[in-house]
Amino acid sequence: MRVLGIETSCDETGVAVYCTDEGLLAHALHSQVELHRVYGGVVPELASRDHIRRLVPLVKEVLSRAACPRTAIDAVAFTAGPGLVGALLVGAAFGRSLAYAWGVTAIPVHHMEGHLLSPALEDDEPPFPFVALLVSGGHTMLVHVVGIGRYEVLGESVDDAAGEAFDKTAKLLGLRYPGGPEIARLSAEGNSDRFRFPRPMTDRPGLDFSFSGLKTFAMNTLRREEAAPGVDIAELHADIARAFEDAVVDTLRIKCERAVRDTGVKRLVVSGGVGANRALRARLKASMEALGGQTYFPRLELCTDNGAMIAYAGACRVAGGADDCPLSFKVSPRWDLEDLLPGAARAGI
Ligand code: KG4
Ligand code: ZN
Repeated sequence: MRVLGIETSCDETGVAVYCTDEGLLAHALHSQVELHRVYGGVVPELASRDHIRRLVPLVKEVLSRAACPRTAIDAVAFTAGPGLVGALLVGAAFGRSLAYAWGVTAIPVHHMEGHLLSPALEDDEPPFPFVALLVSGGHTMLVHVVGIGRYEVLGESVDDAAGEAFDKTAKLLGLRYPGGPEIARLSAEGNSDRFRFPRPMTDRPGLDFSFSGLKTFAMNTLRREEAAPGVDIAELHADIARAFEDAVVDTLRIKCERAVRDTGVKRLVVSGGVGANRALRARLKASMEALGGQTYFPRLELCTDNGAMIAYAGACRVAGGADDCPLSFKVSPRWDLEDLLPGAARAGI
């Protein structure tokens, strides 16, 4: 079975073809980062318009790179939520219509289910059950994954998502959007001993997160220190970036260890844009090794939004007997992961 995947929930247009016999055949991405950069964040209307421009050429490119005629496609999977409503509508209308025109099954996919299953695109596929840490621009979640669609949310952010905190702190330091990779770059030059930021909500039981206070802590530190006579501003910014990244990484590490202990499941899957952070990857890998467990990450390019994870999640859904979605499709800008129906099977080679 070959599934065409379409992702348009935010500022990346992603298209891919996944084959249940041969794996990922091709994927392509158009990032809108340059389009939104001047505004310091995603402008929803511009995002929707750009998805419209990009989808047809990307689908053509991916089918050609996959050496896959359109008659070989068995289903079209598209992100139906959560995300920006206009952006979702573009991908859903396009995907649903394409499936209708081609006479194949249309499958709406939950964006976070895509992230959660994405490490299965790698050779070292995580067996069920596992604990998933989903860290993106819009979500921070720990999920106990028992099987396809059998997701128990163990904890989530009560305010800013981890990626959002990276983006806001980066803005404060005068860095470009998106802030995550920029903070990571600057942090590598920083001194980890100069400041110690709090590890929010780690001093109490539970698996929820709160990251908005860290951004405020960064702002207060910056205001206080930059007023000091003779301060080296570049050094100060790097040290704040380092303290901020250390705090986020350490907080996520503490909560992941707790989730693994609470569930007794020693397999940790890490996905979503912040999962591309090298310090986080190294820290979680070491921590799981110390607990006698294992860590699974998608390759860096599949951590951030992409069509491959949507094609794969769609393939799992079709393999589990999911029905063609109605022509009167809908999108869900807010969509609880726990509302998904269990699926019977996992697709794959
Ligand atoms: O999953 P994603 O591509 O889109 C959403 O679904 O939100 O995640 C984007 C987020 C942004 O906040 C970005 O700053 C963050 O992931 N990010 C990173 C890194 N690369 C991307 N954060 C920290 N370190 C990185 N290397
Ligand atoms: Zn995402």
